[in-house]
Amino acid sequence: MTDLANLQDSALSRIAAAEDADALEALRIEYLGKQGSISALMKTVGKMSPEERQEQAPKIQGARTAVADAIAARKDAFEAQELERKLASERLDLTLPAPGAPKGSVHPVSQVMDELAEIFADLGFSVATGPEIEDDWHNFTALNMAETHPARAMHDTFYFPDRDADGNRMLLRTHTSPVQIRSMMKQGAPIRIIAPGRVYRSDSDATHTPMFHQVEGLVIDRDINLGHLKWTLETFLKAFFERDDIVLRLRPSYFPFTEPSVEVDVGWQDVNGRKVLGGDGDAPGHGWMELLGSGMVNRRVIEFAGLDPDEWQGFAWGLGVDRLAMLKYGMDDLRAFFDGDQRWLDHYGFSPFDQPTLSAGVGAGA
Ligand code: DAH
Repeated sequence: MTDLANLQDSALSRIAAAEDADALEALRIEYLGKQGSISALMKTVGKMSPEERQEQAPKIQGARTAVADAIAARKDAFEAQELERKLASERLDLTLPAPGAPKGSVHPVSQVMDELAEIFADLGFSVATGPEIEDDWHNFTALNMAETHPARAMHDTFYFPDRDADGNRMLLRTHTSPVQIRSMMKQGAPIRIIAPGRVYRSDSDATHTPMFHQVEGLVIDRDINLGHLKWTLETFLKAFFERDDIVLRLRPSYFPFTEPSVEVDVGWQDVNGRKVLGGDGDAPGHGWMELLGSGMVNRRVIEFAGLDPDEWQGFAWGLGVDRLAMLKYGMDDLRAFFDGDQRWLDHYGFSPFDQPTLSAGVGAGA
């Protein structure tokens, strides 16, 4: 066997025995690299006599091709092996536990609004909305508060400098009551709606923030009376606080948009130094807490909204959503609601998967 044949044989057997891609690369450099032994032979071709070259060049070239092909084939084999290994080791394991629930939680105000929607849907109410940038006609005039009405002054209204095309002053709505007007004008009667949403007043302390939340309720139909109002609010409050012993007290009051008007109080009892809703407020050690404003819709309001007050009447109420959340879930400071403090949200927030239902309870499922 010639030296060349020996060289080729040993190269091929070493390539076949190479253990990995690194070892293979080392062999490629050893034989075919710039200083490689086969490369060195290639260089000798130029110095050969024509006859010798004719005989030797094809052999050297043949050895080079054989070694290069063997290296390429082995390389392919290593790559295929590597792919197999990856496929085997990176296979998706469907038996692993699912990743944790997404971070983030439902704010108690949103949770309470969902609870309200759920409870009132069961009583046949739909959810209505209105703009937060209102005009003073919807916010005041149509609710029986004329331009000079003293109740306007009590609302600490944020006004915009400009008026709308009809000359109405624009403002941030001070209550959700204008949605009563908009719903009656849009839908006509009969009507059963709740209107939860943001409202604004220039006011700020531990129990007041310039932006807060109310929910309005409105029922307009034929032959509606105060008894319907009381039953509806009682049924709602029992479902909301998940207690059968909720007792209401209706006190005469005044709102321009209702006649008669009532202030609705709820009985509470002392449980370990905390006021807990439930029980007769007149019982020893108990008391009454003012919860919401309500009344039979003033006939002037029904007229303003374009309906005939001799045919249609009804009742309305308005209450603070933030206050409901505080009472139900035990937060003390309203300002913390809107600070966006992650720790507060982690503590008081709700799982997005915990949808309020009447059958499973509208409150926290946790
Ligand atoms: N809009 C009143 C307020 O913000 C609350 C209210 C009282 C709403 C009586 C009503 C109602 O619908 O009948 O102070």
